[in-house]
Amino acid sequence: MLNKNVEEALVKQIEKEAYSSNFYLAMAVWADTNGFEGTAKWFYAQADEERLHMLKFIKYVNERGGKSVIPSIEQPPYDYKDMKEVFAKTLEHEQYVTQLINDIIAVCVEEKDYTTQTWMQWFVNEQIEEEASVAAINDKLRILGDHSLYMFDRDILAMRGNTPASAE
Ligand code: FEO
Repeated sequence: MLNKNVEEALVKQIEKEAYSSNFYLAMAVWADTNGFEGTAKWFYAQADEERLHMLKFIKYVNERGGKSVIPSIEQPPYDYKDMKEVFAKTLEHEQYVTQLINDIIAVCVEEKDYTTQTWMQWFVNEQIEEEASVAAINDKLRILGDHSLYMFDRDILAMRGNTPASAE
């Protein structure tokens, strides 16, 4: 049976992952409506990944004898000044999520729930990867400067390979 405090921490994270998915979906729409096809594809795929994170939490809580709660989600920002702001906010958001993941692990340690702590390791690794890839994109943007956004967009299109964006 899942410890109550651990369950509460995991259920709280369902909302954070759902918000992350919509946060990136709004960025996909921003890119799509500003002519950045590659960036839109990147963010649609990112939104799908966040939805999968949410599902992982939902299923784990249920599987361990807890009960997931599907939350209402706050509206994410939808207007951005430029590409730099979009990716700066993305990095900031991922760093925030990393902190949330660490906080859940702190609850697991406190409650001696080593099963959930081990399960959470997947998210620790995922955050390392996500922060690194978004930091690399920010570096790229800084190097290219404002006048090479077309090239940047082509470049990022290749990062998601040939897999179609969801709902295409
Ligand atoms: Fe679900 Fe990007 O963290």
